[in-house]
Amino acid sequence: MYYPEETVEEVRLRNDIVDVIGSYISLKRKGANYMGLCPFHNERTPSFSVNQNKQLYHCFGCGAGGNVFTFVMEYENFTFIEALKHLAERAGVTLPEEDLSQEQKRSRSEKARILEINKEAAKFYFYLLHTDQGKHGLKYLLDRGLSEETIKSFGLGYSDRGGKGLYNYLKKQGYDDQILKEAGLFSFKENDVYDRFWNRVMFPIMDVNNRVIGFGGRVMGDGEPKYLNSPETKIFDKSRNLYGLNYARTSRKSNIIICEGYMDVIALHQAGFNNAIASLGTAFTQQQANLLKRYTSEVLLCYDSDNAGTKAALRAIEELRETGLNTKVIDLSPYKDPDDFIKELGVDEFEKRIKNAQNAFLFEIETLEKEFDLQDPASKTKFFNEVAKKLLIFTESIERNSYTETVARKYHISFDDLRKLVNTYGSKYVAGQDKIRPTAESRDKKNKKLAEDGLVKAQKVLITWLIDRPKLFLSIQGILEPEDFSEELYVNVIKLLIDQYKNEKKLNPAKIINYFETREEQTEVASLFTSDIQGDMTTLEMQKAFKDMVLRIKNHSLEKQINQAAIENDPEKLQKLIKEVSALQNLHISFYDG
Ligand code: UTP
Ligand code: MN
Repeated sequence: MYYPEETVEEVRLRNDIVDVIGSYISLKRKGANYMGLCPFHNERTPSFSVNQNKQLYHCFGCGAGGNVFTFVMEYENFTFIEALKHLAERAGVTLPEEDLSQEQKRSRSEKARILEINKEAAKFYFYLLHTDQGKHGLKYLLDRGLSEETIKSFGLGYSDRGGKGLYNYLKKQGYDDQILKEAGLFSFKENDVYDRFWNRVMFPIMDVNNRVIGFGGRVMGDGEPKYLNSPETKIFDKSRNLYGLNYARTSRKSNIIICEGYMDVIALHQAGFNNAIASLGTAFTQQQANLLKRYTSEVLLCYDSDNAGTKAALRAIEELRETGLNTKVIDLSPYKDPDDFIKELGVDEFEKRIKNAQNAFLFEIETLEKEFDLQDPASKTKFFNEVAKKLLIFTESIERNSYTETVARKYHISFDDLRKLVNTYGSKYVAGQDKIRPTAESRDKKNKKLAEDGLVKAQKVLITWLIDRPKLFLSIQGILEPEDFSEELYVNVIKLLIDQYKNEKKLNPAKIINYFETREEQTEVASLFTSDIQGDMTTLEMQKAFKDMVLRIKNHSLEKQINQAAIENDPEKLQKLIKEVSALQNLHISFYDG
């Protein structure tokens, strides 16, 4: 934590969670909670609840949850520090100088300065585009059909022929060579320095927070390379960014269009498709898919219609499927890319292609089909075997059957035959003879099942009860230690709660979340505070449930220790533990309610 605890807590207290979340989405009061449509997944009936007492939010649909910092981090895609600064400003709290270590200060300020340099560079290139030197750059862009307004909103620019213009400009601004080397905009030769980009039209690349993190530069006309890009730097990680996402994330459309290039994104935005982004010619990564998932649940792939584009699309489909994003594929033929398509056929035709976008799985099957000769019985049989294997990626039988049915109909074979084939591969898979990567969805479900399994559930509910009825801490005193909890995160949370109870005489769960910096941890911690058992229980029932949970947790912990003692060959310890286990049976646990 870079800021003092009290400051973080003050910022949190001054930003009431209902006010803050209410400024993003509409909330309606319902009993003790406020309810609304979850901004983190698509839904029609509200399952997103905000608890003003606890200052926590929680979505029953997708499991999102946390305190006011978590919400802003998740919604705005901010880091913890960014969320803190944002909310401090909102509430008029002045933050003290950050308390950073020397090393943190150095690397933080280095990144900040590289960002500054990139921003200065973007301004410089933009300026040049509108001077005499940049005239042919501007003409090139206008000739490609871009409007002045588009050029401005994407901050397009021009790098001059001199080859040193940007370097001289930044030197004058006082940047030293050492930091300029890190910015990726220059090539340092033996005893001279040149601008990396010269005589190109320039495309600044921005992250989701509108910060310039790199550039692409295009030759005007033919020449190699067609696009030159910034190298990876401390602020530019190609695999984690998507061109245009800073605009597309606020498009309010129900999906996001992914294409390959800078010009495609820009042309699409100009045509009104402001939900377009590009993966910039590199292979689509899992990190990019995860990034996208924060903003949408459906993706339309709009890759070039050539072989390379199809290959890239197939790869992207796999990554998107792993992430659980619904994917469709837009057919651009006979044109190469969306930029060309719109120029030739216009907006309405493109709109039609969006409407007719093909289900990603069926696209995969059609592409696969091209490798086989369906007139030849042997080849045809092979094809159906491949199809059957592929159908196994659907782990839900209803979904798998409906795809099986669609494919069977399309290729005029009987549903039963195809399903039998699928099942043959399925049983091989179960027997472990045939390795098929489980999909993200099935993994998610499995993880979720594991996570929600009895022990974990017991710990979560117990912690929630402790929060709601702090006197229960007395009930577990001398019985449950923080270390008895099975997950490291839970152990830490319990320790923090006990400290808080001792020092402040009351519990403040939303404050506990301040101690965790990543959104994932915050959400996980919040889930410990909002896991109540459904329904109304009588006191008697609660007492019994409470005892069951405590015993279950303790039992598991003792078992683990017994295993450890056995491994360490420590008979004394072993005996002591075994005694403890048998003592559990007669343990009296008081239920201090109220
Ligand atoms: P394309 O070659 O399909 O170019 O590359 P394009 O987008 O149609 O560009 P225009 O219309 O000719 O101007 C697609 C993307 O791949 C990356 C760029 O991000 C480009 O937009 N690329 C391509 C490079 O980075 N370097 C290259 O040399 C070529
Ligand atoms: Mn193009």
